[in-house]
Amino acid sequence: MTEQAYYDVLIIGSGAAGLSLALHLADKAKVAILSKAAFDSGSTQYAQGGISAVLGEDDTLDSHVEDTLIAGAGLCNSEVVKFTVEHGPERIAWLIEQGVPFTQVSDTHGQINYHLTREGGHSHRRVIHAEDATGRAIVTTLAAKVNQHPNISLLERHIVVDLITGKKQGLGHDRCLGAYILNRDTKKVNAVGARFVVLATGGAGKVYLYTSNPDVATGDGIAMAWRAGCRVANMEFIQFHPTCLYHPDAKSFLISEAVRGEGGKLLLPDGSPFMQRFDPRGELAPRDIVARAIDHEMKRLGSDCLFLDISHQPADFIINHFPNIYQRCLELGYDMTRQPIPIVPAAHYTCGGVMADCYGRTDLDGLYAIGEVSFTGLHGANRMASNSLLECLVFAHSASENILAQLKDVPKPPKLHAWDESRVTNSDEEVVVSHNWDELRRFMWDYVGIVRTTKRLQRAKHRIDLLHSEIQEYYSNFRVSNDLIELRNLALVAELIIRSALQRKESRGLHYTLDYAKTLPVAANTVLTPEI
Ligand code: FAD
Ligand code: SIN
Repeated sequence: MTEQAYYDVLIIGSGAAGLSLALHLADKAKVAILSKAAFDSGSTQYAQGGISAVLGEDDTLDSHVEDTLIAGAGLCNSEVVKFTVEHGPERIAWLIEQGVPFTQVSDTHGQINYHLTREGGHSHRRVIHAEDATGRAIVTTLAAKVNQHPNISLLERHIVVDLITGKKQGLGHDRCLGAYILNRDTKKVNAVGARFVVLATGGAGKVYLYTSNPDVATGDGIAMAWRAGCRVANMEFIQFHPTCLYHPDAKSFLISEAVRGEGGKLLLPDGSPFMQRFDPRGELAPRDIVARAIDHEMKRLGSDCLFLDISHQPADFIINHFPNIYQRCLELGYDMTRQPIPIVPAAHYTCGGVMADCYGRTDLDGLYAIGEVSFTGLHGANRMASNSLLECLVFAHSASENILAQLKDVPKPPKLHAWDESRVTNSDEEVVVSHNWDELRRFMWDYVGIVRTTKRLQRAKHRIDLLHSEIQEYYSNFRVSNDLIELRNLALVAELIIRSALQRKESRGLHYTLDYAKTLPVAANTVLTPEI
């Protein structure tokens, strides 16, 4: 990348949100997509269960809306839910047009249909999937299209350090004008200008010690938007997925909720089922309830894990539905056709994020946020399974329409100040970065996890304040590196999570605190506004 390059649209992130947005724009705009690691390093690549949309004959839009509202525990924005659900079927049709190989089955009349699976909170079968590796199928298909398009540059190993705003450039009008980007190979930071900048940077699961998320999920987009003056909302609602494989070598390998959707039972170490004691919907209750029940039973029994058992289903059914999960479990010594699999909950999804409207527009002119980085109001206090990829697709499309409608009216940004390295040197103590990473992720797991108390949250707040000043000092003195950028962002996001959790004086959805066990009669979002 040359210095002071310009694009019509700079998309930060190459997951479902970023790739689909680029394809919607590229016939009319010059687009760059950045990924701080390989193009397939985001959460999308690992998505298993599928995408929810009303596709079955017996299903209705109203039912999808209602299930989402129930899972969201009173905090979803019903207009946004309706908007998203209504656009679901056309977005799936678009993916099929692009060539995503969704799983098909033949019915009793020999008719071929797309197979729809079930997941927690859904009252109908409405999750379309590509075996048990839906995300990989989406990324592979869309990235192939992106690579063929002459108007799209896909830049891997380019990490955005910060957004460039009119205010920080000393201009009168505040607008997002581009970004400072570190090329991880040349180690140079360049200013890149754009008419529009879109955050499609995914979530922040790495803020916790145990997570289903890949390494890139460090909340960079949330931190950058906050520093640029945007509000963030509902950061306390971190979703813990109930069933990650419990194994020292598995690095939080997910066991899809679809396994429970197809009959899998949760068991205690003695083999007895327990979910009915917590919710009449049993294994298919919304995720917050299932994760909390597992956490409760593990603590009660002092057990390191519980178990998920689908071995009562025929072996070929299990292998056909879950070929990748079956294979991975087998490699690690568990044959799921014959025995229960050990599972634990792990941090999985960031329900809150950068506040954005139905076109992905944020508080800062020219800056959009789509996909997991955003807070649109869709998920409320608990995201329903498979509504996340749906959100990525629907908001990528609506953002593209909004951007294209303005493209001709927005001038090219002015020349931008170069990145200033005059006051920094090479780090002499990289160990500080790795030490702080470990400390932060551990205390977030211990103090800001599935069950919270005010005392634990205050402990976490105290520690994050100390870490913050240490990291800030380090950042001011040394050249930026990928790890330092991520640590700085993680620490800020951790602080936003803790602050939001302390502000919520009730238990609702994913936020459960022993000090305020009741749900308040009126639901309100936790909105934080930066002071800049
Ligand atoms: P991601 O796919 O996470 O992509 C983020 C991109 O941003 C990456 O390319 C990354 O490199 C880039 N990036 C981040 N920061 C920077 C920076 N500073 N500079 C440059 N680039 C940056 N949801 C469902 O709906 N259905 C499922 O079945 C499902 N299964 C899941 C299984 C797993 C294991 C996980 C982890 C999540 C699952 N989810 C599922 C959630 C869903 O996959 C994610 O919410 C969704 O894929 C997020 O997509 P995204 O495009 O917003 O971001
Ligand atoms: C899963 O397959 O269980 C993940 C689905 C999701 O996170 O929506």
